[in-house]
Amino acid sequence: MEIPFAESWKIKMVEPITKSTREQREEWIKEVGYNVFGLRSDQVYIDCLTDSGTGAMSDRQWAAMMTGDESYAGARSFFELKDAIEKITGFKYVIPTHQGRAAENVLFSALVKEGDYVPGNSHFDTTKGHIEFRKAHAVDCTIDDAKDTQKELPFKGNVDPKKLEKVIQEHGDKVPFVIMTITNNTAGGEPVSMANLREVRRICDKYGKRVIFDSARFAENAYFIKTREDGYADKTIKEICREMFALADGMTMSAKKDGLVNMGGFIATRWEDWYEAAKAFVIPFEGYLTYGGMNGRDMAALAVGLIENTEFDNLHTRIHQLTLLASLLDEYGVPYQRPVGGHAIFIDALKVLPQIPKEEFPAQTLTIELYKEAGIRGCEIGFLLADRDPETRQNRFDGNDFVRLCIPRRVYTDNHIRVIAAALKNVYDRRDEIKRGMEIVWEAELMRHFTVRLKPAAE
Ligand code: F0G
Repeated sequence: MEIPFAESWKIKMVEPITKSTREQREEWIKEVGYNVFGLRSDQVYIDCLTDSGTGAMSDRQWAAMMTGDESYAGARSFFELKDAIEKITGFKYVIPTHQGRAAENVLFSALVKEGDYVPGNSHFDTTKGHIEFRKAHAVDCTIDDAKDTQKELPFKGNVDPKKLEKVIQEHGDKVPFVIMTITNNTAGGEPVSMANLREVRRICDKYGKRVIFDSARFAENAYFIKTREDGYADKTIKEICREMFALADGMTMSAKKDGLVNMGGFIATRWEDWYEAAKAFVIPFEGYLTYGGMNGRDMAALAVGLIENTEFDNLHTRIHQLTLLASLLDEYGVPYQRPVGGHAIFIDALKVLPQIPKEEFPAQTLTIELYKEAGIRGCEIGFLLADRDPETRQNRFDGNDFVRLCIPRRVYTDNHIRVIAAALKNVYDRRDEIKRGMEIVWEAELMRHFTVRLKPAAE
């Protein structure tokens, strides 16, 4: 008999989670205006809101925390972190920050000017926010196929080189750098191939441009290169990481994802001029150069997390849970962005609830149904999140309307995954009974999905 696959870790500490009844959940979700961000965590049974800062640290990371050095300047923990980053990326200049968006804030303060154009593959919201806040433009050059949720492509997070080159040609000096997000969160946690990263490098070299990787999920990207791209099967994850980062000039990092810590981030680069420019902003915004918003103990734990999460077994255990969820949804016929990505499954709400008009937010409707069904908290990545067009104030209905279910790292077992799949099946099987969607009661002008209040749309 073939020995079945099992986790590459065992559990040393557990945290109780709370079950509830459908009646309780109906009451709770109504109280918070049908917005899952308003729920208390003990009103949630399985929390798939995000994979950011929600992972479990290993015993070695907790041990490293005890040895953290809290010196204001020159802390030993900083040098441990710097060494780990240099080992994985080859970048010798490192600036810690309190999380990923802080790394963007510091680096973009130095690099992005009003009127600039920053092309890339589906900038994450905060990345886009930090570009637009500086009155510059984030230009999404992701391949068109990424929008077709049923199309199976191994590297659906790729940039379209033609689109990228066109932006650089059109805006020349106004392009301060190109940013590649690995993996591409917005497109569904879809990876970018080494060939695509190489092509981006080639184009950038041709026009004298530098490349930044938004590296929040870089290790998951390396896993997909190893398992899907020709020529990489026999390379280690660390070798693949070195090869990826050799194609970049610098990185911003949200360590809350592939760093396996609950809070933290950093900037790393090979260029002294970028380091010097960023230095001027990290001190006033974040903190002194050798801690920049992080505790010494947190830097120590991150140094260990980076090394652990660039081991194949750890990544394989994680991505196996996504593959398991996807295979169950295939069995039940629930449509999602195919193939499943590295950190989350994105349910295609427009295909599940075609009877709900876009004005009634199908993905938000499905998010609420899933919560009521089994206490599972997903997150709408769709028309609510897309906000209104700043000029016309019309809702933006041109993108996908997804329910994102993130799987935190090393937190849930395969049994929890089966619960998520069963709950989705139940909602999917009674989808025709869902006749109405949601209506906005109150919304903020920007980033409304965090605080919007809704009610069931009137019959
Ligand atoms: N870049 C990517 C690709 C991200 O997914 C995130 C965060 C950030 C940057 C910002 O990092 O949160 O540490 O400031 N993504 C989280 C999510 C919030 O749920 O996808 P941060």
